[in-house]
Amino acid sequence: MAELSRREILISGTALGALGALGITSPAQADALADGWTWPASGSVAGSGTGADPRWVWDDVADPLLASLFDRGVIPEVNRLLYDWNRNDQPLPAGLPDDLRAFIEQARRLPSWADQAKLDAASRFHALKGNYIVVLTIVGAGMLATAIPKEARAVYYSAGGADLKDRVAKTNVLAYAVRPQNAWGPGGTAVVEAVKTRLVHAAVRHLLKSSPWSGPIPISQEDMLVTWHTLATYSMRGMREWKVRISSAESTAYLHSLQLLAHMLGIRDEFIPATWDTSYTQSDIVLPRNMGPTSEGVELNGILRNMLAELTSPGSIDKPLVNAFARYLTGNQAADWNGIPREPLWDPVVKTAWPLLVQFREGLIGLPLVPAAAWLLDEMIKKWTTFYLTKGAQTKIVIPTGNRPS
Ligand code: HEM
Repeated sequence: MAELSRREILISGTALGALGALGITSPAQADALADGWTWPASGSVAGSGTGADPRWVWDDVADPLLASLFDRGVIPEVNRLLYDWNRNDQPLPAGLPDDLRAFIEQARRLPSWADQAKLDAASRFHALKGNYIVVLTIVGAGMLATAIPKEARAVYYSAGGADLKDRVAKTNVLAYAVRPQNAWGPGGTAVVEAVKTRLVHAAVRHLLKSSPWSGPIPISQEDMLVTWHTLATYSMRGMREWKVRISSAESTAYLHSLQLLAHMLGIRDEFIPATWDTSYTQSDIVLPRNMGPTSEGVELNGILRNMLAELTSPGSIDKPLVNAFARYLTGNQAADWNGIPREPLWDPVVKTAWPLLVQFREGLIGLPLVPAAAWLLDEMIKKWTTFYLTKGAQTKIVIPTGNRPS
């Protein structure tokens, strides 16, 4: 009976299906559901809401479409046709199935609230503070992702879980696309990569049905918000904590670019925070209840740290500084969930040296106050940021056709 119910949740893809099955299988989740969704939609980009709970909303339009494309066996052909669809203003290739074409034409439209002046300011901010943004949204958020059980397990059991290097490179295609001036304009690529990602997520929801995955369908609207906060709210909090200089126009612009990203990935406007304040409130609701340890997360996190160590000093497996920085970025609880070893020598050094290094870079303190160890960190971060800021576009986002090979 329980098994049938899980399948029902996975297969239905609707809030109704999930609710029906939930009542039978999982009292704990039913309790959580009874808690309801307390974050007020008045604090959202939409300004009001339907009262829907984002835990039980997925992607009403993309999910049935992808299921149908899989049933018709056309995904490899779709991938072939979309491979050279790169620019926001590029017409779609001939030969795409009509329903997919109609979906993309709709999904590629920017919302009426997109504001080009703010987007321009956001990319200037990215150019100015790119190093901190990379450290927080790629390294820090990557480390947090493995401490989000649903995300860790979804990544582990999907095709990308078997080749994390390629998976990270593909994710960086989107990170890279949203940075430049005109990212969302005619010559940019952010719209295309966001729409492709929306298709990939719908494919993952469909494919994970036939994997060792169990539980509600992943990548719900709440799951999306959780990951969004590990990029948006977490990075803003981090920069504030490190005393990075940010004007109020820059902070508004940065938020705007992230709101647009959320919208283009299929998050409903009624769930996207309108301000940093409402964002902090929402983050404090959704993050704690969606984080914790998994064996899959520990395995993936170890691979991620090896990748970072390899960038720091090729051929080296010695990674105390990487471990210490990862612990510093995510805090002790997430670091312990991720199985990151404690580094008695480096943990206290990083904690002291990094904020001072940032304050020196921001012109807030003089050189003599920066401890010598900070320059080792500086060197490491430079290697990471050079890599992530320059090598983002070497691969393409494609719709997976299967899960992790077992
Ligand atoms: C794929 C970004 C949320 C699980 C991708 C890709 C990008 C991306 C760029 C394409 C790269 C690729 O194909 O590997 C994002 C962003 C998110 C988000 C920006 C939120 C703001 C989530 C969440 C989950 C998730 C919440 C799971 C709970 C996956 C999986 C794949 C994927 C499993 C496919 C991996 C494969 O290739 O097999 N995501 N994602 N994502 N994402 Fe997300």
